[in-house]
Amino acid sequence: MNVLFIGDIVGKAGRLCVKEQLPKLKEQYHPDLIIANGENAAHGKGITKRIYTELLDQGIDMITMGNHTFSKNDIYTFIHEADRMVRPANMEPLHYGVSTRVLEVKGMRVAISNLCGETFMNNVVESPFTCMERILENVKADLHFVDLHGETTSEKMAFTYHFAGRVHAVVGTHTHVQTADERIVYGAAAISDLGMCGAYTSVLGRDVKEVITRFTEAVKTRYTVAEGPAIFCGLFVHFDENSKRAMDVERIQLRPKHIEE
Ligand code: FE2
Repeated sequence: MNVLFIGDIVGKAGRLCVKEQLPKLKEQYHPDLIIANGENAAHGKGITKRIYTELLDQGIDMITMGNHTFSKNDIYTFIHEADRMVRPANMEPLHYGVSTRVLEVKGMRVAISNLCGETFMNNVVESPFTCMERILENVKADLHFVDLHGETTSEKMAFTYHFAGRVHAVVGTHTHVQTADERIVYGAAAISDLGMCGAYTSVLGRDVKEVITRFTEAVKTRYTVAEGPAIFCGLFVHFDENSKRAMDVERIQLRPKHIEE
């Protein structure tokens, strides 16, 4: 089974980049399942129904979320019917949406769970470790993939070592900077952070000048998403369907050409 994980899609630049790159990546990797983090898809924070639908129409099978799940009010109008979305299991508000979904892929039950890391993160109400144990008690699947949306590599790596073997992939999201530590841990595919799909000339997808102003002047600025050519980040994983082990992990980072900074 081939699985393509796509990092945080940030704003319009990120969405355009995914739209452009996905057909080529489908041809190259023949994914049976495509999972993307969409928590920044609508102007850098949150997601709308229109964008959710647009991403699914491009062939993305499951959208994972994060700390910005509820940043756009539109989410409350459709999350109850968004059956291709998972939101962090351990983050408030808890009573909207679903945190683990199971899809049938090539005759196998594939679970996809979404949790937030605890470190440097607001509104997290339970350790992702405790929360994941409970999820595993309740969810029976042939393969189980986790998007751990967290700030620190240490928490994401520790989580991977703790659950590898019981889950089959742990991909980190949230930092928007791809880590070069893709590997296979006890048969589970892992990367501390997938990175983002968003404007290359940016600070984590956000407008450079605006972020500099925030750091250098004591003023609050309006959130401005960066525009321009975008970087695409993700991870390809091939799983052996009999052993349920990841056999191959390939980090994907496609930078725009001819960028002058
Ligand atoms: Fe995030």
